[in-house]
Amino acid sequence: MTHAEAPERGVFITFEGGEGAGKSTQIAHLAARMTAAGAPHVALTREPGGSAFAEIARTLILDPASAPKGPLAQALLFYAARADHLDETIRPALRRGSWVLCDRFSDSTRAYQGAAGGVAPAALSQLDDIVVGADQPDLTILLDLDPKIGLQRANQRRASSPGTFVAADTYEGRQLDFHQRLRAGFLALAAAAPQRIVVVDAQLNELAIADLIWRHVAERFANRLAGAGKGAP
Ligand SMILES: Nc1ncnc2c1ncn2[C@@H]1O[C@H](COP(=O)(O)OP(=O)(O)O)[C@@H](O)[C@H]1O
Ligand SMILES: [Mg+2]
Repeated sequence: MTHAEAPERGVFITFEGGEGAGKSTQIAHLAARMTAAGAPHVALTREPGGSAFAEIARTLILDPASAPKGPLAQALLFYAARADHLDETIRPALRRGSWVLCDRFSDSTRAYQGAAGGVAPAALSQLDDIVVGADQPDLTILLDLDPKIGLQRANQRRASSPGTFVAADTYEGRQLDFHQRLRAGFLALAAAAPQRIVVVDAQLNELAIADLIWRHVAERFANRLAGAGKGAP
């Protein structure tokens, strides 16, 4: 009797940054390039969201009418959603050997509810140890952008949604100084974890950024990508 070999654990990459920085745009570019390079399983997911419960939590959090008002209550809801997202989606995908690309993760809670919202970093750190534990991202791409430009981009995106009026969500509607604290918070996280978090200038054009990110991923995970390509026709 033969036993199927357990696949090598997958790779977990997160995208972070403020509104309109280009996270959703770049995650799609990276997924396409990874697939083209022969990575067989690329799983795209997002926060808040990524599981049945977490998607419902997302609607509660992003709608200003139902979002918890206090940053601590927000952080607890984000971590409840994250626990379910990890159990239902991220951990199973990593066990299958998938590349998991996630649009926002714990650094967003640290920046929004921590740096910009005032929840003590030590409290968030304890929650993160309990909920995420050893399943930390292998790499985080931080798209860094002046929030004035990011908010303009987010407004343009909203205006171009055909036939629908989409109101600014809980966070997009905040004052500029909130978004400036947010940016500084993200940059401080990157300075504290330079081996995990790579800062990318999000003011460059879309394809230049996609090239930078791809070169970084291809270099950092060269062995894994070479292995992934072997089975390709
Ligand atoms: N590098 C870029 N330069 C200019 N506009 C961009 C760039 N990247 C994305 N955009 C546009 O900005 C808007 C926000 O991008 P998006 O990827 O949705 O940001 P995020 O997911 O970080 O909020 C979209 O309309 C997108 O087409
Ligand atoms: Mg997005």
